Amino acid sequence: MESRWRTSIPEDLAARLRERIVGQEEAIEAITPYVDLHRAGLAPEGRPLGVFLLLGPTGTGKTKTVEALADALHGSERNVLRVDCGEFQLEHEVARLVGAPPGYVGHRETQPMINQSKLNAVSSERCGLSIVLFDEIEKAAPALGRLLLGVLDKATLKLSDNTTVNFERSIIFMTSNLGAREMMAELAPAFGFSGKGPGDGSVEKLKRIGTAAVRKRFSPEFVNRVDRVLTYRPLDRVALDSILDLQLGALQDHIIARLGPAGFQLRLSEAARGLLLKEGTCAEYGARELKRTIHRRLMQPLARVVLGRQAAPGSVVRVERAESGEGLCFADGAGLPLAA
Ligand SMILES: Nc1ncnc2c1ncn2[C@@H]1O[C@H](COP(=O)(O)OP(=O)(O)OP(=O)(O)O)[C@@H](O)[C@H]1O
Ligand SMILES: [Mg+2]
Repeated sequence: MESRWRTSIPEDLAARLRERIVGQEEAIEAITPYVDLHRAGLAPEGRPLGVFLLLGPTGTGKTKTVEALADALHGSERNVLRVDCGEFQLEHEVARLVGAPPGYVGHRETQPMINQSKLNAVSSERCGLSIVLFDEIEKAAPALGRLLLGVLDKATLKLSDNTTVNFERSIIFMTSNLGAREMMAELAPAFGFSGKGPGDGSVEKLKRIGTAAVRKRFSPEFVNRVDRVLTYRPLDRVALDSILDLQLGALQDHIIARLGPAGFQLRLSEAARGLLLKEGTCAEYGARELKRTIHRRLMQPLARVVLGRQAAPGSVVRVERAESGEGLCFADGAGLPLAA
């Protein structure tokens, strides 16, 4: 079995991740050696394969990194056991994670949110590693932090029915926006207008802000059990330009996947791309704003083109910047306007 995993994890995992995650080289270089340890059969026993805390501004690729890793290892972004820590803000809610202990009212109904079979279900034939994501960790009640200590340290979680979950074949990610606001304030003067990324000096400063915020919020025991704290960088104009290409590629795939033979090929002019990039560049929301802009400016009008049966199957749909400068306009392969 071991050998089957070794052959099926992509040889150059870092390159695969780079195709999906833009501008976060440090994170990619930090994460991939841990997977190599697993591939080589040298993962340590009695602890998770790796524990990562991902920090940094919103919309910079933290969650996306975890999804891209799942896709590379298992063939689907969905192969992640995700715990939304915002659902565990009160101490008693944390019990849902491990199941309510006997004697609690209604305990029969509370299945633990994490158990061994759920953990195993996110691994795959290709790769026996389970990816676990604790999203927005700072929102959870301290009780969750205490539960996590055992998981991070000994790779075990005890459930209310006295069974244990083994996390030895797991790679654990935690994400947090701790310090993110302060990071943006630090960057705002330089970043806001130029769209230029931070220099190396300010990246170091961001890391210091992140680490200080984490140390303030979590106990030293907790911080000690994290293998790497990775601070994601704000995305500059060049990064957003590449992300735009990725998202347009994904949109094209989506059109073909959904519409099948009725699908069409999108061709965007430089001016149309420029408009999306200009409207979608926002230091505050990272690539989220770009995604929203593509949705509003491109996908919604395209839906109207499809509903109006204006795009012939297999044809080309040209996308131009509207002459008014406001929004985009659409034409068929011969340049005849399509009403969106
Ligand atoms: N570095 C990046 N490379 C490629 N795509 C990105 C990157 N950052 C963000 N995106 C795009 O933006 C979307 C939102 O990013 P993501 O969910 O990873 O943000 P996040 O850093 O987890 O933010 P939050 O702190 O708000 O959870 C992703 O689905 C992806 O399409
Ligand atoms: Mg996220």
